[in-house]
Amino acid sequence: MRTHYCGLVDETLIGQAVTLCGWTDVARNLGGVCFIDLRDHEGIVQVTVEPDNAEVFAVAAGLGYEDVLQVEGTVRARHAVNDKIRTGKVEVVATKIVVLNKAAPLPFHAHENANEEIRLKYRYLDLRRPEMQRMQRTRIKLVQALRRWLDARGFQDIETPILTKATPEGARDFLVPARMHPGEFYALPQSPQLFKQILMMAGFDRYYQIARCFRDEALRADRQLEFTQLDMEFAFVRERDVQDTVEDLIRAAFRETIGVELDAQFPRMTWAEAMRRYGSDKPDLRIALELVDVAELVKDSEFKVFADAAADADGRVAALRIPAGAALSRKQIDDYAAHAAKFGAKGLAYAKIAENGELTSPIAKFFPAEAFAALLRYVGAGNGDIVFFGAGKYNKVSDFMGALRLKAGKDFNLVAEGWRPLWVTDFPMFEWDEEEQRYVALHHPFTAPAVDDIADLKANAKTAVSRGYDMVLNGNEIGGGSIRIHRPEMQSAVFELLGIGAEEAEAKFGFLLDALKYGAPPHGGIAFGIDRIAALMAGTESIRDVIPFPKTTSAQCLMTGAPSPVPDAQLAEVHVQVRAKQ
Ligand code: AMO
Ligand code: AMP
Repeated sequence: MRTHYCGLVDETLIGQAVTLCGWTDVARNLGGVCFIDLRDHEGIVQVTVEPDNAEVFAVAAGLGYEDVLQVEGTVRARHAVNDKIRTGKVEVVATKIVVLNKAAPLPFHAHENANEEIRLKYRYLDLRRPEMQRMQRTRIKLVQALRRWLDARGFQDIETPILTKATPEGARDFLVPARMHPGEFYALPQSPQLFKQILMMAGFDRYYQIARCFRDEALRADRQLEFTQLDMEFAFVRERDVQDTVEDLIRAAFRETIGVELDAQFPRMTWAEAMRRYGSDKPDLRIALELVDVAELVKDSEFKVFADAAADADGRVAALRIPAGAALSRKQIDDYAAHAAKFGAKGLAYAKIAENGELTSPIAKFFPAEAFAALLRYVGAGNGDIVFFGAGKYNKVSDFMGALRLKAGKDFNLVAEGWRPLWVTDFPMFEWDEEEQRYVALHHPFTAPAVDDIADLKANAKTAVSRGYDMVLNGNEIGGGSIRIHRPEMQSAVFELLGIGAEEAEAKFGFLLDALKYGAPPHGGIAFGIDRIAALMAGTESIRDVIPFPKTTSAQCLMTGAPSPVPDAQLAEVHVQVRAKQ
């Protein structure tokens, strides 16, 4: 149907006849002459229709946005060169226009800033926009670069089942009723975790898969119900073997996809250090602000909240100094407190030191003047600064102070340009779940503990460190993995510590425990969030922009209308009865 792409017509074609196909980006009838911006996936070219060609002119004059055209014409140099587009030095003088399909009046226009709901409902229109095309292509290039690198190094792309048994990654499962087994269900995989481990036991040595994962969890800008991982596993490795290899892979991916050269060696930080300095297990190192522990300086204060937290072995009192933060108004300080509250803060104390040295602080009254001045000196606060203080349980304080650090970084323009990857290592093995009154795995239950000795692990579960690691980039967790447990006794011991009894372990993971018995090599791996990496590369805040057909934050596909009710007969076939919402 065509000889050239619209976006690729250039000076080399001057004088030649071309046939183009595309959409009417805009058609302008200036009376004497008609200009059509004809668009395809390569870009836009100007089609000019002159009035002496009455038949073609009549067609052009009747065009509307997004009409689909086939245009025959001759390329000629343009008088008014447009430097902004690749085809800007030429135009195509139309000799024939065929309207292949008229477009109805559009629900929104590509050039306006339409809201996301309408964009998602008419996603095909949204995806036609050059900005969306650019972001999808970034993702496509990323996946190509990853595959190229992996294929060249002997990693084997192996598919694993979608209809399977639950693999716990800490989210709720999506269930699929089994028609042939009334009352039984498949689970969609939260990740291929157990299959890839079993592939190592099956002798495949190095595996990868671009794998769709399903997790029924609350959606956010960086979370979807279904998302894509680059999933990898290696046999006979230690942490550094995996980390050094995938660092190279990620560097190659950034170089080849967006021309960015990442650090030759990613810095490493323990989980404990990340929490202490940044209040986060995925610190954004572009922001220079750091938390400062001040328990020692406030333990004798009359402010009970601080003194209690300082005395608590699991407590924390942390300060965050924001240079030039004294400019914050009362209202803005309240906004910071409200932000901290979202992350669990019960209150947010502060000390504001005006340019003239005047101090405003609701907690100064609890300290002798000299002690308070010493506290401010300790955190490095001077005239013009504000200091926020958080007190309470260690992880909670770290969370909300870490969240304030990010907000302050953005609000005060303290986010440096560039790419700051790092490894976070030495995660706690377990986390105590107050609600369930039991330990839960911080990574997943197959992550090896740093200690090899089962008695040691059992005796020190609270402080046990795992062999897990995350790759973090500019405050995003882009990948996570670990060295796995490869001995059945250790796996059983970890299940036990997680409150999974022998019977339950057998029912849920019997196949894994069996496989571990018959010669399982030491192994480890990692999975990267492709959507998150693509979003970072494309320069967008939301992974929805790099997923062609994403779900909304209320877990719906606005285009297809999924999820939707199904006829009773279909439910009966799969032995499912719907209960009224509880
Ligand atoms: P994990 O659960 O850390 O590890 O997932 C790996 C990476 O996947 C991305 N990710 C997500 N992206 C979008 N939406 C989501 N809901 C979502 N959840 C996770 C993140 C994350 O770093 N089986 C282990 C990996 C392993 O141990 O090898 C796993 O799935 O970027
Ligand atoms: P109060 O005397 O209760 O008004 O508290 C004095 C200041 O301490 C207020 O600004 C509170 O927001 C703040 N505050 C209360 N609880 C905490 C906490 N857990 N961490 C930090 N600041 C707090």
